Amino acid sequence: METLISLVNKIQRACTALGDHGEDNALPTLWESLPSIAVVGGQSSGKSSVLESIVGKDFLPRGAGIVTRRPLVLQLHKIDEGREYAEFMHLPRKKFTDFAAVRKEIADETDRETVVNLTLVDLPGLTKVAVEGQPESIVHDIENMVRSFIEKPNCIILAISPANQDLATSDAIKISREVDPRGERTFGVLTKIDLMDKGTDAVDILEGKSYKLQFPWIGVVNRSQADINKSVDMIAARRREREYFQNSPEYGHLASRMGSEHLGKLLSKHLEQVIKSRIPGLQSLISKTINELETELSRLGRPVATDAGGKLYMIMEICRSFDQIFKEHLDGTRSGGDK
Ligand code: GDP
Ligand code: NA
Ligand code: MG
Repeated sequence: METLISLVNKIQRACTALGDHGEDNALPTLWESLPSIAVVGGQSSGKSSVLESIVGKDFLPRGAGIVTRRPLVLQLHKIDEGREYAEFMHLPRKKFTDFAAVRKEIADETDRETVVNLTLVDLPGLTKVAVEGQPESIVHDIENMVRSFIEKPNCIILAISPANQDLATSDAIKISREVDPRGERTFGVLTKIDLMDKGTDAVDILEGKSYKLQFPWIGVVNRSQADINKSVDMIAARRREREYFQNSPEYGHLASRMGSEHLGKLLSKHLEQVIKSRIPGLQSLISKTINELETELSRLGRPVATDAGGKLYMIMEICRSFDQIFKEHLDGTRSGGDK
């Protein structure tokens, strides 16, 4: 994840350097096409727990070495339950009561924070019925809102289904299949494996026999409510989860492919691939910029004493070094290394 964050930072700095040199329309598009990750599923399926375990470990700027790094690579848009309001990290006290306003706030925020590139989205839980006091339209409003996020081609979907409910009724599977029929950006996550009825197990699902997805299913054991009440920390929860799979007679043979840690790894690998696929586009922008700068500099004549000329030189140097850095990254990809 460190490597990934640093790569994203490099891309970002390259984009800034290119942006300093005139305006380029391809740049925003390139930048905006970087992936976001959204968790989708029914209420209490474990969405926030899954996101939290990814964030707690790898993403949030509380990890060692990431704290002081300026571009905040990851912005958590927390759209929490309560269902009638959404709350954002950057506006902790403001509650949104209308989903159109929520969408607008996200759009505005995206515009304001140009450094944001990887975005995590904790979506509200899908419901089947409106509860007392809620308008009938709530079920569809939530569904439409969720869909508006996950239908974007750059959205990586974590489809969360609880193992103690029938997969055939999974809201997560239903809606993600709708927006991503080939499962190219959907990761199926099965939560609450520890809460299944005695005598039943999820082996067929986890082995991809019940419902096949492009990516393998990941089973997780998150912290239970009792754990949360007792403030069991992430590290202890991880260890217990690992032990759960390793010591389980049903899942022992799958242990290396299960758990939050493994999910985190799969996800960063996938993100890295997606991000690296953007590099060639960035490189052609860089070489175009270098060419333009060379032309401009030779027009100015040498030696260049003016401030303007000095700045152009500097940008050109920056572009050249990024060109080199990205070449190395791509070479790493071709030779199969994914460190
Ligand atoms: P969300 O509503 O989909 O965001 O679900 P939460 O992450 O808030 O989880 C809902 C409840 O289920 C909480 O009490 C969690 O502690 C509990 N929970 C989530 N995942 C698991 C799990 O894998 N095992 C157990 N035992 N409880 C879980
Ligand atoms: Na919840
Ligand atoms: Mg939640």
